[in-house]
Amino acid sequence: MQEIDVVIIGAGAAGLMCAIEAGKRGRTVLVLDHANKPGKKILMSGGGRCNFTNLKVTPDNFISHNRHFCRSALSRYTPHDFIGLVEKHHVSYHEKTLGQLFCDHKSKDIVNLLLAECQSVAAKVQCDTEVLSVKPLADGFVIKTPRGDYSAQSLVIATGGLSIPTLGASAFGYKLAEQFGLKVWPKRAALVPFTLHDKEKSHLQTLPGVALDCQVSVNQQSFQEAMLFTHRGLSGPAMLQISSYWQPGDTLTVNMLPQLDLQEYLLAAKKDKPNSSLKSILQPLLPKRLLDIWLIDNLSLQEISLDNLQKIATSFQAWQIKPNNTEGYRTAEVTLGGVDCDAISSKTFAVKTIPNLYFIGEVLDVTGWLGGYNFQWAWASGFAAGQVV
Ligand code: FDA
Repeated sequence: MQEIDVVIIGAGAAGLMCAIEAGKRGRTVLVLDHANKPGKKILMSGGGRCNFTNLKVTPDNFISHNRHFCRSALSRYTPHDFIGLVEKHHVSYHEKTLGQLFCDHKSKDIVNLLLAECQSVAAKVQCDTEVLSVKPLADGFVIKTPRGDYSAQSLVIATGGLSIPTLGASAFGYKLAEQFGLKVWPKRAALVPFTLHDKEKSHLQTLPGVALDCQVSVNQQSFQEAMLFTHRGLSGPAMLQISSYWQPGDTLTVNMLPQLDLQEYLLAAKKDKPNSSLKSILQPLLPKRLLDIWLIDNLSLQEISLDNLQKIATSFQAWQIKPNNTEGYRTAEVTLGGVDCDAISSKTFAVKTIPNLYFIGEVLDVTGWLGGYNFQWAWASGFAAGQVV
C-alpha cells in the first residue's frame, strides 16, 4: 500500500487547486479521477473559452441553505488571485460582459496552467482510476482502487455535481458523505434550459433561434439578460439564471421590453400615429417572428381599444409561462443542493466530526450564478482546504 499525505478524489477545478496549494506546503499529493483526463468540465466550459471567474463576485451570487458559509473562502481567495495565476502563465483573457472573464483562446489554457502548477509542486494527477471504497483508519483513510490501494493522512472529496454524466459526473461524493453520516440536501439540475408543455411548444413552434433581452422573474428573484427560444423550450442566460430559483409548478413572468413602459409608448403612438398598424409600431422593438405569433390581426392603432392596448402591453411585459420541466442533468451546468455546509468548517473545509476528511467545490451545497461564479467557488474552496490538508 502506497502512503500519501493527501489523496484528493476528483481532478476538476477544486481538486486541482487544492493539490497545488497542498503541494506548495511540501505535502505529498495524489489526485485520483475516474475520467480519462483531468478538468473535463473546464475544457467544455464557457463555450470552449472557460469563463474562469467574475470580477463582481460576492456571497450574494451563491445559493445555499447556509448563506454565510461561502463568505470566508471567497474573501481569502479572490478573483484577482486567480487572475494573478492566469497572468503568471501568460494566458490572455478578456471581460465579455457583467464582469465575466473568458480566455481569449481556449479553455485548455486553464487546464494546462493548473497541471503545470501541479507538476511544479510534484502533485501527481492519476486519471482512469475508479475509487472502489474508502475506509477510515485511526489516523487517516484507506482508498481502494483497481490500480492499487493508498493510505492517506488527509482525504479531500472534490467530485463535483451531477451535471453532464458523459463528462465524468457521478454521485460518489454525495454517497461518501452519507457513508460518513453527513446530511445531503436534495439535489436538482440548475443553470439549465426549460422545457415547455406541448401546447405552448406548438404555439411557439416558429420561434426557435429567436433571442431577445428580457427580465425574467420568479420567487422574488429577477434577472435581466438575453433569452432564447429553442425547439424544446426556453434557454439563454436569463433562463439559465432563473432556473436556479424555479421550482416545478412555478410560473415565470417575462418582460420582453424591460427598458420601456410599453403601455405608455403605445398610448403615445395611438395619439400621434393612429393609422399605423400595431405591428409596424412594435417592429423596431421586437423580433418579427415573435410579433407574428403575438399579434394575429394586423390592426391599426385606432382600431384597438385602450383596454385591449393595455392587455397587449401586459402580454409583452408580463408574459406568464409555466415550464413543463428543465432539461435536467443532461445539459445543466451545475447541481443545486449537496453536502450540508453546517457539517463543514467554512475556514478549512474539514468535516467537523471526522478528522482529516474534507469536501470542496460543487459537491457542497453552494451553487453560484452563471458567469464564472462556480469556478471562483471551486478555486476558493480548493485554495482554503489546500492550506491545511
Ligand atoms: P468538477 O466537476 O470540475 O470536477 C469533479 C471531478 O471529479 C471530475 O473530473 C470527475 O471526473 C471526478 N469524479 C467524479 N466522480 C468520481 C469518482 N467516483 N471517482 C473519481 N473521480 C470522480 N462554471 C463557471 O464558473 N464558468 C463557466 O464557464 C462554466 N461553464 C460550464 C459549462 C458546462 C457545460 C458545465 C457542465 C459546467 C460549467 N460550469 C461553469 C460549472 C463548473 O464547471 C463547475 O461548477 C466546476 O467545474 C465545479 O468544480 P469541481 O472541481 O467541484 O467539480
